[in-house]
Amino acid sequence: MVCELMIKANAANLAVTAADIFVKTAKDCVTRKGRFAVAISGGSTPRATHRLLAEEPYRSDIPWTRTHVFWVDERCVPEDSQASNYGAAKKDLVDRVPIPPAQVHAMTGEAFPEQGAMAYQTKLKAFFRADKGGLPIFDLIFLGIGKDGHIASLFPGQQALDEKEKWVVAVKGGDPNLSRITMTYRVLNGADHIVLLVSGKEKAAVVKAVLEEKHTDLPAQRIQLPNGKLTWLLDREAASLLSNQRGTSPFVSKKNA
Ligand code: 6PG
Repeated sequence: MVCELMIKANAANLAVTAADIFVKTAKDCVTRKGRFAVAISGGSTPRATHRLLAEEPYRSDIPWTRTHVFWVDERCVPEDSQASNYGAAKKDLVDRVPIPPAQVHAMTGEAFPEQGAMAYQTKLKAFFRADKGGLPIFDLIFLGIGKDGHIASLFPGQQALDEKEKWVVAVKGGDPNLSRITMTYRVLNGADHIVLLVSGKEKAAVVKAVLEEKHTDLPAQRIQLPNGKLTWLLDREAASLLSNQRGTSPFVSKKNA
């Protein structure tokens, strides 16, 4: 796995870099294969990036008619709830860009999370043509990380971390503590490129633990992309406890040497 560490001065610069990666990947993918499949996270960190993507110069530079947006996880709440990942991205991004509605693949399962998870898996299998032996290969996935090391809704100590077959599962946990639907590593680790967006000093300890302590078994350490690239995109505060701030972290380079 190729791993890179990018450290930006502040949260605003981090959002600009993330938006640049989104645009470049979208254009490259559409040129190479006619479509761009991206999965986005919830939480507060990606919201600035989503808003930038809906503004010029980004908005006009993205081939929206060839772009498919998926979610890595969702809280099982109504779409107009403050906790809804889809609801937030709809407001920040989806409603403000010319993406065909059929290419916006929200996770639904407010009342029945298990059924919602199964339905999303079916949707992914059809999209990636799994019936013809296809694998879930996202062109780009944006993830955030919690202070406890979770990514998507894969929380420490939960069974979902060891799921090897299912692509999408229902879980309960997090903050807010809710029923949720989440992609599993089966999907995440198939990606071509994952960008982990991390901002703020309250995340500095977990960033250090994931990147520099080898055996913590934090969920973020299980991101292993055999055929892809992992970019840690941090702001200076989130990177402030790292001993190596100049490039690939010791943890990642050792583990993947
Ligand atoms: C969710 C997320 C989750 C999030 C992290 C970081 O729906 O809760 O997808 O994995 O990315 O908790 O969240 P913040 O960006 O708010 O710190």
